[in-house]
Amino acid sequence: MKSFSVTEKGVYTSRIVCRRNVLHSALPQALGGRKAFVFSDERVWGLYGKRVLRALGEGNVHTMPAGEAHKTPETLFSLLAAMAQAGMHRSDVLVCLGGGVVGDVGGLAAALYMRGIACIQVPTTLLAQVDSSVGGKTAVDFCGIKNLVGAFHQPALVLADPAFFKTLPAREVRCGLGEIVKHAALSAPLFDKLEANAERLTDLAFLADIVPENIAFKADVVRRDAREAGLRKCLNLGHTTAHAYELLDGTLSHGEYVLIGTYIEAEIAAARGGDAEYLARLRALCRAVLGTFPSLPAAADAARVACLDKKNTRQGRVVLTVPFRRGEFRLMELSAGEYEGELSRIGRTL
Ligand code: NAD
Ligand code: GLY
Repeated sequence: MKSFSVTEKGVYTSRIVCRRNVLHSALPQALGGRKAFVFSDERVWGLYGKRVLRALGEGNVHTMPAGEAHKTPETLFSLLAAMAQAGMHRSDVLVCLGGGVVGDVGGLAAALYMRGIACIQVPTTLLAQVDSSVGGKTAVDFCGIKNLVGAFHQPALVLADPAFFKTLPAREVRCGLGEIVKHAALSAPLFDKLEANAERLTDLAFLADIVPENIAFKADVVRRDAREAGLRKCLNLGHTTAHAYELLDGTLSHGEYVLIGTYIEAEIAAARGGDAEYLARLRALCRAVLGTFPSLPAAADAARVACLDKKNTRQGRVVLTVPFRRGEFRLMELSAGEYEGELSRIGRTL
């Protein structure tokens, strides 16, 4: 009998490349003759499908309807069925072309199919390039809880091309900026860069310029803590509140809820010893990207939903990753009642 051990380091072998012209050159090159099965959403496929087909020559394609509402087990299993019907083999590659929804569902299908096949992420939204395509978190929403069912499955390769931003609606740019502001709340150099460029945050050239820095920041966190045993929890900053409102309301995009969550949790931190001056600047950045604040669901409902969040360790408690000082975060645990009180108090000031 032989025995083997696979360390996390051995598992984590993702390569991330920021490169223009991925559809014509980088993707066919990366496949290196292996068979590709492309997964996308209907919107992205309508925009880029012909180019993919021209570049790959052949390959099976499966699309899902666009949007978070379809990040479901049904979509996952219809993809798995299409992969099986196409006779996809263990040595073939699943290419996920799209935003974070396609990446999360496709990544989970790659983790499950034949107990794990290679996956190449080709993120087409700003959010997916700076965040979701990097780090191997995959999931679908289930039983009314966001990302309840998922797996860690590192993509073999991420190909991030800023050329995709040309067709992104302004709202999706704002959505990506939500996760960029989150990174800035954790990284002082990024925070300074965003503040210094507050006038051109949505400028495509500026965005192309900051994508690699954001990827480098996230990749460094993941490299040190791929399975979220400790440090990686920092990437949940603002997300407990964001997820609660996203599940209750759902009219905004994920990144917009992240901006709202970061804003509110910065206020919570300021009331508990955080650096008030810095946290006010961070809130100003959130507001600058978000524009006017939408009306939010009732605090009691948000607190109830937040108690279901998988980040919580004890019943009736809410765990938050809050910004605290420049480049510093804290984990804070509030009772459901305290959290509801904070949401009501802050809600009155918006
Ligand atoms: P999305 O995938 O729904 O894409 C947003 C919209 O933009 C969709 O309608 C899509 O069709 C369209 N689109 C995509 N690329 C386009 C392009 N180049 N031009 C024009 N339209 C384009 O949303 P998203 O914001 O990319 O991702 C959000 C998801 O990511 C959420 O489900 C969130 O939970 C997940 N997420 C995952 C992680 C992770 O670590 N796995 C991190 C952050 C967010
Ligand atoms: N977006 C949170 C994480 O990747 O850990």
